[in-house]
Amino acid sequence: MCGIIGAVHMKGNIASILRQSLKRLEYRGYDSSGIATVSEGTLFIKKDKGKIDDIHHRLNFDTLPGSIGIGHTRWATHGPPSKVNAHPHTDCQKRIAVVHNGIIENYQELREQLQANGHRFESQTDTEVIPHMIEEALSHTPTLKEAVAETITQLEGSYAIVVLGTNGKELVCARKESPLVIGLGTQGVYCASDVPAFLPMTRKTIVLEDHEVVHLTSNSALMSRIDDTGSLAPLPIREPTVVKWTIDMAQKGGYPHFMLKEIHEQPRALSDTLRIRKNDLEAFAEVLHNHKNILTIAAGTSFHATMAAKYMFSHIADRLIHGVIASEGSDTVAESLGKDTAVLAVTQSGETIDTLHAVKHLKNQGATILTITNTVGSSITRMADSVLYTQAGPEIGVAATKTYATQLATLASLSISLGTMTGAQTDKESQELFMALNQFPNLIQAVIRNQESQIKETAQQYITKSNFFFLGRGISTSTAMEGALKIKEIAYVHAEGYPAGESKHGPIALVEPGFPIIFVAPNDNTRRHLESNVMEMKARGAQIISICSATDQRLIDLSHHAIPLPELPSKFFSPISYVIPLQLLAYYAAILRGHDPDQPRNLAKSVTVL
Ligand code: G6P
Repeated sequence: MCGIIGAVHMKGNIASILRQSLKRLEYRGYDSSGIATVSEGTLFIKKDKGKIDDIHHRLNFDTLPGSIGIGHTRWATHGPPSKVNAHPHTDCQKRIAVVHNGIIENYQELREQLQANGHRFESQTDTEVIPHMIEEALSHTPTLKEAVAETITQLEGSYAIVVLGTNGKELVCARKESPLVIGLGTQGVYCASDVPAFLPMTRKTIVLEDHEVVHLTSNSALMSRIDDTGSLAPLPIREPTVVKWTIDMAQKGGYPHFMLKEIHEQPRALSDTLRIRKNDLEAFAEVLHNHKNILTIAAGTSFHATMAAKYMFSHIADRLIHGVIASEGSDTVAESLGKDTAVLAVTQSGETIDTLHAVKHLKNQGATILTITNTVGSSITRMADSVLYTQAGPEIGVAATKTYATQLATLASLSISLGTMTGAQTDKESQELFMALNQFPNLIQAVIRNQESQIKETAQQYITKSNFFFLGRGISTSTAMEGALKIKEIAYVHAEGYPAGESKHGPIALVEPGFPIIFVAPNDNTRRHLESNVMEMKARGAQIISICSATDQRLIDLSHHAIPLPELPSKFFSPISYVIPLQLLAYYAAILRGHDPDQPRNLAKSVTVL
């Protein structure tokens, strides 16, 4: 899991451009980073453990000479974060530098062969085999491009790589199962893990497919496709796509953190997503309608969106769906179960390897693959038979917020569309549901506007607490679990998200006077039973914090703290507004504890390792 960038400019020093590009990729990993440039036939490298700004402060990346270079920001897989394990990695003669995102599964065998041939290794990484293999290949192949091609045919696993040689005029990049995009600018040409890396320089992009190899110079990007024997076949010129994201969208826009900006962007993200074309929605729903089984596959926050979808599909469309956690996907679903199954993979990045693996497994078993993702051109979109895009825009904060809201909105729209097909909803009823859904952008705007300062105070009040329960019933169980995940991942506070009814069967043993419990309590058909759970916990001295309707005076009176929310236009979509206070609570809990919510320790935005 890493961010990579390569850039070739016609003139001028490239180092500061690479450094700033890496900053915009830091969400992909940030335990070490490095930059390599070439000037007058010599390779220059600066790299170290730590975040880019800290390393820059110590080493000053910007003094690296030359108008061509590569950069890397790392999320460790093989070998702990350290200076030697930081990328770029080089060959023995320091004539080739490589940055890599992904995992080379057969690196151990390759390394042993290379060592037997006299190559010396400095790091514990899987990546370092690549420059040494290219060095070997260059002893009998004329060009860097061919040497890279020969090398990658021997690699097993996933990679996006950029290779820099000392001739100082060209870069070669290639991908398999890890993202890579080309940027075509007026000053030069770029390749990177993601578009924001080169957005200030160009919006013209070409998304690479697996097995494509690109030769980059300051004014060209020549693409080829590699076959199993290592032969390269030139590809026709592909028209670049002009991405609509502005650099402002990809940056903080005046907020102290991306996470807060992204929480505040939710009304906009939601209304853009709700503009989904009716035909696209119906085509998607029809595939679900025509299959006997519907299986959802997702990880992390996206999994919580699919949990909520289970309730929506059941109540709105009369369809039961099976929710599977991505990492368990290939082990859960027996080989005989592919046919007659529609798989709905929900992933904001489209690159989560657990999700990709589960989907690949099910596709091989004959399942039809549908996906909901936020990332155009991501790996999942190439595996899927049909794609619906959420319109959250780039989400940089590691903890998912606006992409969650947009996933919920898309799943809600889908359940209504399906409900009309199954006959569970009349046209009029489905219209009313869509109208209710369309009120949520304004509703969540009001929640943010009216509740943010109170939530900040609540976070302050519970600053000394190191354990929380988040409880809900029905669809709110998913909201409770998402609230617990958020506070765990960014505030490093232990929290359990649990079905409130089930909390009697174990978790309640932990409750003692002062134990904080957050109840997610919308005014739906679970509300009456939830009150019994509140009473059970209160009787044991728990501190009750309720997220509930502003009209629910009874629960407000029973609670030690209440965060009152506007009445719901439809009880089926409560997670969209009820998650907002929990996102804000986690954010302020992190800030008040002195943690950086955008880059929590040990986590990464898109997890591309199994
Ligand atoms: C990581 C991120 C989470 C995200 C999960 C699934 O764990 O830190 O925020 O929910 O991956 O990501 P996806 O891109 O598949 O939705």
